[in-house]
Amino acid sequence: MQNNSSDKHRLAIFASGTGSNARVFVDYFDNHPRVEVSLIVSNKADAPVLEMARQRNIDTLLLQRSAFYGSEDLLDELHHRNISFIVLAGFLWLVPAYLVKAFAGRMVNIHPALLPAYGGKGMYGMHVHTAVKAAAGKETGITIHWVNEHYDEGDVIFQKSCPLEDSDQPADIARKVQQLEHQYYTAVVEQLLVNNFVQTDYTK
Ligand code: GRF
Repeated sequence: MQNNSSDKHRLAIFASGTGSNARVFVDYFDNHPRVEVSLIVSNKADAPVLEMARQRNIDTLLLQRSAFYGSEDLLDELHHRNISFIVLAGFLWLVPAYLVKAFAGRMVNIHPALLPAYGGKGMYGMHVHTAVKAAAGKETGITIHWVNEHYDEGDVIFQKSCPLEDSDQPADIARKVQQLEHQYYTAVVEQLLVNNFVQTDYTK
């Protein structure tokens, strides 16, 4: 039974923006016996997610593009901090091969649509929801997947859909999707880490 801090799974959350999902992770794993959010990584110095991390006394790391793509120094940094698992939550830079390889089976992403639809480069944030609206989609949802070297192409771990009304505008779609993200992302990561298994029905 793992029950002290050194035995915990230590998460690094990579985020470029608001960090609402990162905040849900911080709250969900606060005082969790097996998992802790140990580091918030961002590529944007003024990203609100970094301010949130500072307020919660969580270590932060700011990435420089040249070092991220031109060296493997980040691996030493993550190793030094005993990071065991990476959660991408609104991280907009493509993950380089060295990081994919080092964290194979230990790095997940969430996408705000039902992949393989509405994925790939440039498909993030409101671009996704606007495209769903333009296609008059009857449903949308979330996809949690392993990370590989291509945007949104890693193996799917979990998907959850929600119905759309004809009257739903992109902002309404975004709200519905964000609700699913906040409800399921933490629980799926917890299942992966604690049980090495993901159940498909989290409705309680
Ligand atoms: C989420 O919609 C997530 O699916 C996508 O980026 C967004 C991040 O939102 N990958 P937030 O910064 O966590 O609020």
